[in-house]
Amino acid sequence: MLLIQPDIAPKPILTLGFGDSETLNALDKDESSPYRLLEEREFGSNCTAADSTPVYDEGAASYDRNINREEYFMAMSFWRKWVANQVVTASVLGKQNISADGRRLPDVLEVSAGTGRNIPFLDVAKIGTITFTDASSAMLDICREKFQKRFPKYKYARFSTIPAEFVHTSEISPLKNKKYDVVYETFGLCSHADPIKALQEMLGALKPGGRVVLVEHGRSKYKWLNKILDNGAIIRARKWGCRWNLDIDEIVRQTGAEVLYHDRSHLGTTYSFVLKRPDDNIVDATEKKYRFF
Ligand SMILES: C[S@@+](CC[C@H](N)C(=O)[O-])C[C@H]1O[C@@H](n2cnc3c(N)ncnc32)[C@H](O)[C@@H]1O
Repeated sequence: MLLIQPDIAPKPILTLGFGDSETLNALDKDESSPYRLLEEREFGSNCTAADSTPVYDEGAASYDRNINREEYFMAMSFWRKWVANQVVTASVLGKQNISADGRRLPDVLEVSAGTGRNIPFLDVAKIGTITFTDASSAMLDICREKFQKRFPKYKYARFSTIPAEFVHTSEISPLKNKKYDVVYETFGLCSHADPIKALQEMLGALKPGGRVVLVEHGRSKYKWLNKILDNGAIIRARKWGCRWNLDIDEIVRQTGAEVLYHDRSHLGTTYSFVLKRPDDNIVDATEKKYRFF
């Protein structure tokens, strides 16, 4: 767990959508702000955790251009389609074939949405409300532009610059105590200062019958590949803001989440999960507990 350091200046929080907009500049002066959980601003030489937001703020404009080729060769659109499908089906509510004819549609939250690379795969006709969050306002600005261009008539989208570690329980979060049917994240845990806390916040934000859906990248199943990942970790982290050698299974295990689906591909470096809170007994008859841990 990272320590709270008083010398780290918090950033303004901006929320947009549903017509609301607020900037919490007061946090800049608030020494007790939990934003200071993000202890380190730079990755240490052994690739210790850090707040990667400055890397993403700086690289936002060229992010899509730079990542396109890597994602193309790894066929990442396949996983993004899988996530988009889970967004409307993973929760117990989603499994009940919710449609637009008067029945309720799922409320969903995307954490670490980045530049909105999942947007092209979303079926908003099957989504009640959608909230996009990220710690980097520059990344989220691009996400918002992309969403508004693709779905100009959809009125139930919200955008909020807030680190995942504070999204649900912190006083500084505009989304404090809000609950969702599906909370999802793609390739975000690698970039968080505290991935365990971030995932705990996601689980905390679930409604009964709600599910967390993840596609993440991390350590391989193979020693030879892990050696390569470990050796290149610091260069990768400083350039891309992500630690690509984290043990994602271990992070999930430490949150105590119940695993309903688990898969690993790309030699074990791409992880897919559907998770539920262990204290949530609302399950669909088709769901089985995945006995992984
Ligand atoms: C590798 S990018 C992935 C973006 C997007 N999810 C995707 O699939 O393309 C990681 C994202 O995590 C965001 N991020 C880094 N630290 C964060 C934190 N503590 N809380 C929320 N988002 C964070 C970065 O700003 C960046 O947009």
